[in-house]
This record gives sequence, C-alpha cells and structure tokens, in this order.
Amino acid sequence: MAVRLVRRAGVLGCGLMGSGIAEVLARAGVETTVVEVDRDALARGRARVEASLARAVSGGKLSGAAREEALANLVFSTDLGDLAEVDCVLEAIVEDEAAKLEAYRRLDKVVENDAAFFASNTSSIPIMKLAVATSRPEQVLGLHFFNPVPVMRLVEVISSLVTSEETREQARFLATEQLGKRAIASPDRAGFVVNALLIPYLLSSVRMLESGFATREDIDAGMVEGCGHPMGPLALLDLIGLDTAQAVAESLYEEFKEPLYAPPPLLNRMVEAGLLGRKSGQGFYGYRQGG
Ligand code: NAI
Repeated sequence: MAVRLVRRAGVLGCGLMGSGIAEVLARAGVETTVVEVDRDALARGRARVEASLARAVSGGKLSGAAREEALANLVFSTDLGDLAEVDCVLEAIVEDEAAKLEAYRRLDKVVENDAAFFASNTSSIPIMKLAVATSRPEQVLGLHFFNPVPVMRLVEVISSLVTSEETREQARFLATEQLGKRAIASPDRAGFVVNALLIPYLLSSVRMLESGFATREDIDAGMVEGCGHPMGPLALLDLIGLDTAQAVAESLYEEFKEPLYAPPPLLNRMVEAGLLGRKSGQGFYGYRQGG
C-alpha cells in the first residue's frame, strides 16, 4: 500500500488549533488553503499564524527565509470551493456536533479529489458520526493535535470502525514524516488516550480543592515539585480553559458513566460564572486579560 506525499492540504477553521495546524503544514512545505466562515474570522486567523511565525523567528526557532517560505505556502479564503483539489482536509472548527456534521456534508460535495482524506481535530465528537455524514466514511479519521500545535509533538491518530488502513497510514505519514510529530494510535472512544488519563486527574484536583483538603498552591506545588510535572493540575486547567475541560469531562461521563469523569460542582459553577481560566482572565488563578 503506497502512501503519498501530501502536497496540498485544506484547513477548515483557523482558531486556536486550526491556526497552529495551518502553520505546521506550511512550515513543512505543504501548500495550505485555510478556510474560515467570514472575513473577520479569517483576518483573526491569519494574524494568529503570522504572530506565531514571528515568535518562532524571534525565539531563534525559525529563519526569516523559512518564515517567508511558510507564508508563501498559505492561502486564506472564505470559499469552501477552494478546497476542491486538496489531498486532505484537516478540520478544526468549533466543537459543535451540528456545525461539524454540516461542514462534513459540504466538504464531501466540494472536495473533488476522490482519494482525499478528512481528519478531524475534535476532542469529544465520535469520528464515526462525522464519517457517516460523508459518502467516503472509510477516508475519515481523527488527527488530534495538542495546544500549542507548533510546540507540542503529539498527535493522536483515531480510526473509526470503518477507517481504511490506507487512510490511517496516509494520515500517520503526514503527521510523522512530513510534520515531524509523534503519532500514537487511539480507538474512537471518548477522551482517546490522553484525555481519558488526564481529565480524571484534573477533576480530582478540583475535588480536592472543593473539599478544602488542600490549597490551590499546595495542590499545584505537589505535582510540580513532587512529580516533575511542568505545571500543576489547577494551573493546567486554567491553561486548557475550564469550559473546554468541562466539555471533555461531560463527553467522557456520557460515554462511560464513571463518577471519576463527572465534572465536580465547583468546575460547573466556575464555568457558569465565566471564570474560564487564562482566556477570561480569571480561573483558579488571576491573569492579566489575554495573558
Ligand atoms: P476556536 O473557537 O479557537 O476556533 C474555531 C474556529 O472555527 C473559529 O475561528 C470559527 O470561526 C471557525 N469555524 C466555525 N465554523 C466554521 C465553518 N463551518 N467553517 C470554517 N470555519 C469555521 O476553537 P479551537 O480551540 O481551535 O478548537 C477547534 C477544534 O479543535 C475543536 O474540535 C476542539 O475540540 C479541538 N481541540 C481543541 C484543543 C484546545 O486546546 N483548544 C486541543 C485539541 C483539540
């Protein structure tokens, strides 16, 4: 079974994750067409990619010439029809099932290349549901990147019950050989590998705080100083976003009905209050807005 070099890719959605995915594709020499819903969202996405490339240059991780090459590989569009000829589409739109199903129905119609595969970055929606929205379910899988995409090496490669071996190997080739990532395989189950392990741990730290068992500083220092983690669980929750963590916990709980996956009341109340972590300026800790 022959895997091919991916030369042309589409990225659907250019938010936090899509902008990072577009950047790593462009830096790897893949001609990348980024599609967003409207001009404003597209401008924000483009600015995010440009700022990240500028940071890579100022941090000595990328030469000025390499940045120019990456920018030359990027096309920004609001027309899904521009994805007609791509070898694959990496989808990173909002984590909303209805929105994703609609996007897959439309992608299936506009992508003319019969061999193209579709990869979702979803954290919690079953790949199978997205696959059956298309006429090529065996060419749909999950490629779950981690934030920030240009920095984090891991990609989870998620096969649905009907993903073909060819699609899986082709996507794995893109992730490892072309993008330089470390790929791990995961079945199509809520949480995949990493979140199935990480989320119960993070929720336990919230329960520990909520019950008054330990302070936030001691909980975080315990895991940083005692276990060598780069940050404690409460600080990590603030980084991920409490709403995002809650959504993943809910999908895990819905799938397995295990109490350890149920979001604790404190997490739910903080999300209701808009205390979402770094992105809102306040979570378990306070941040300067946008910091
Ligand atoms: P985000 O909210 O930053 O970006 C989503 C983008 O999709 C927005 O710019 C929006 O305008 C755009 N969009 C919405 N509908 C669209 C459509 N039909 N066509 C084109 N663009 C559309 O969200 P984020 O955080 O980047 O998440 C994207 C995906 O990645 C979600 O599935 C999420 O579960 C997943 N993910 C998120 C991680 C994170 O740390 N935030 C980590 C791993 C996966």
